[in-house]
Amino acid sequence: MGAAASPDWAELNRAHWDEKVPVHLASAFYDLAPLRRGEGRLHPIEEAELPRIAPEGWAGLRVLHLQCHFGADSLVLAQRGAEVVGIDFSMPAIRAARELARELGLDDRTRFVFADLYDARHRLPDPEGFDVIYTTWGTIGWLPDTVEWARIIAWFLKPGGRLYFADGHPAASVFDDDAGSAPVGGRDFPLPAHPYFREAGVAVDSDRDYADPEATIANGRTVEWMHPLGRTITDLIDAGLDIDFLHEHDAVPWRIFAACERGDDGLWRWPGEALLPLGMSLGATRRAH
Ligand SMILES: C[S@@+](CC[C@H](N)C(=O)[O-])C[C@H]1O[C@@H](n2cnc3c(N)ncnc32)[C@H](O)[C@@H]1O
Repeated sequence: MGAAASPDWAELNRAHWDEKVPVHLASAFYDLAPLRRGEGRLHPIEEAELPRIAPEGWAGLRVLHLQCHFGADSLVLAQRGAEVVGIDFSMPAIRAARELARELGLDDRTRFVFADLYDARHRLPDPEGFDVIYTTWGTIGWLPDTVEWARIIAWFLKPGGRLYFADGHPAASVFDDDAGSAPVGGRDFPLPAHPYFREAGVAVDSDRDYADPEATIANGRTVEWMHPLGRTITDLIDAGLDIDFLHEHDAVPWRIFAACERGDDGLWRWPGEALLPLGMSLGATRRAH
């Protein structure tokens, strides 16, 4: 991480994500074989929690997937019967999602919209509202403003509609492999580098990719934000949502730090006893008034 964020954060971040789309499509991390067999699966954390979001299953539910990337998770939910609208600000991601939907015969149940999240209300007017908003793993860290994020979610959900949100835990974002490491209990752990309450976006330079350790990303400069957990939750409450559950996890689906080890469930954890949470997830319901 380096200098304070420059105003062209959206352009930097978009170039970064545009470049990552073909890398991710070819990666083992985004294994599309189960989806192509008609048996798409989400990570174990979402699979365990989603019955609370859709207790009667996904058939017929209208789902809005924010920051959908190339639509892998959107298409899993569509395979289960949901009607899914995915939005993302990367055109290569949206094109890939549309192509995959066609290939899988799910294009009648999915719609992929090219839009910055903050423009979503203009690009996707939807007076009827959605039953579920789904957004996971690598989302608000790319967004400067969670007050507006929460308002957008509330605006798109119909009363009684539910949000499912899972992401890296902000406590974990304090640490950074690039800051170096120190031994704890005989193992090397990343050092703390990023203040938990920092509001300003920060320029990050990294040519690495979480999905393909061999890849080198030319558009390596991005701008990212820290969002303390209490603030994010309060933003959702203030926007009109009731929190149904908040879980902190000792695991995330990607190798968040070099020290982490992969479990039999495919998730990555600290070695030994967890020092701090790595992930978080929540379910929330749109209040009627
Ligand atoms: C880590 S990915 C989300 C990944 C998703 N969980 C997955 O694994 O498929 C982050 C996505 O956010 C999108 N994104 C970042 N900033 C955005 C913004 N301001 N508006 C819309 N999409 C954005 C990127 O294009 C990228 O596809």
